[in-house]
Amino acid sequence: MARRWPETDHAVIPNWVYTDPEIFTQELERIFDGPSWLYTCLEAEIPNPGDFKRSKLGTREVLAVRGADGGVRVLVNRCAHRSMQVCSANRGNAREFICPYHQWAYSLDGKLLGVPFRRGYKGQGGMPADFEPSEHGLETLSVATRGGVVFASFDAPNETLETYLGPKMLAYFDRVFSGRPLQVLGYQRQRIPSNWKLMMENIKDPYHASLMHVFLISFGLFRLDQQSSTEIDDETGRHGVLVSRRAEQAAEEATSQMRSFRQKFTLNDPRLIDPVREFPGDPTVVMQTVWPNLIVQQQSNAMATRQIVPIDAGNFDLVWTHFGYADDPPEMRERRLRQANLFGPAGLVSIDDSEAMLLSQAGIAAGEDCECLVEMDGREAKDAQHMLTEGSIRGFYQHYRTVMGL
Ligand code: FES
Ligand SMILES: [Fe+2]
Repeated sequence: MARRWPETDHAVIPNWVYTDPEIFTQELERIFDGPSWLYTCLEAEIPNPGDFKRSKLGTREVLAVRGADGGVRVLVNRCAHRSMQVCSANRGNAREFICPYHQWAYSLDGKLLGVPFRRGYKGQGGMPADFEPSEHGLETLSVATRGGVVFASFDAPNETLETYLGPKMLAYFDRVFSGRPLQVLGYQRQRIPSNWKLMMENIKDPYHASLMHVFLISFGLFRLDQQSSTEIDDETGRHGVLVSRRAEQAAEEATSQMRSFRQKFTLNDPRLIDPVREFPGDPTVVMQTVWPNLIVQQQSNAMATRQIVPIDAGNFDLVWTHFGYADDPPEMRERRLRQANLFGPAGLVSIDDSEAMLLSQAGIAAGEDCECLVEMDGREAKDAQHMLTEGSIRGFYQHYRTVMGL
């Protein structure tokens, strides 16, 4: 059934974009298999030649591999023989990949090295004489890396990663990924029973953050009285950042208000939210959304990438990779890990978002003909210097509609 967007602006979202399996299939084709740079992994996960890491881009499995030459390649994890998944370890080190089924062997850059009994045995069997191994390697993707982050694409994008992000978003990206070597601190993964786009909306939505998250409000981590902004890339609106700055003045007010809260809410271990300044400038929270599958979290000293892996219209996996810098002193590493308690499937803050997405999807599925409204602070895709806005969500849908032809 041909679908039509209900309005000319992007402030009204039809509920079927979250539920229709045909729309989901189209998203895979046009967004995830299309000319998008997809977050794949961190280079710190594959530091040495032969290191590999399995990842999922859209619904397709890939292997990010560090080659003998030090370069990173991303290969589709699918044998050229009968399509079996060649590698089933999540991470490891290999000299070559050997498919378990009939043991075709592939090099680290995906070339087919060997086919058992290719020439038959005692004159019997074997592959046809014109079988050309160079035509049967693992499918390889275009790769772009920056600041220790690996992106890949199924369809060579006609723009570099830098142009793709645009100058405004690149500056925020480089703030965390400055080239200082990273260190992975741990993983979390969860399946969230909602459409993947609700995750992007959630991070582009400061309006809820100051209202729903009791933990953030009670302990002064994200509040309406703090100077905040949302920004989108100028070109398309597809990427965004949500920035919160704790100016000295606001910090004092927040502290005084925190005292009044203290009677009711106190932390047994106040170190849980004990941030130290480590980046230039005054933002203390920068949540960046990179179209279509990456969230970069810098909240106090807790940093993570969150990778969105769509499963179907009503489910996605969220893969959290918590990281710090390789040269962090031990206290900083511990601080990052302590603060990480706020995030992940059972995180003191993130648990609210997971439930919000679940309940949103439930409401949406029960009203497929209805619409969602994102009119806070107007109807255009735009930046805002405050929290009471949905302008960044409208930016996302402005680009979404272009790509999807809706
Ligand atoms: S399916 Fe991989 S070797 Fe046969
Ligand atoms: Fe939230």
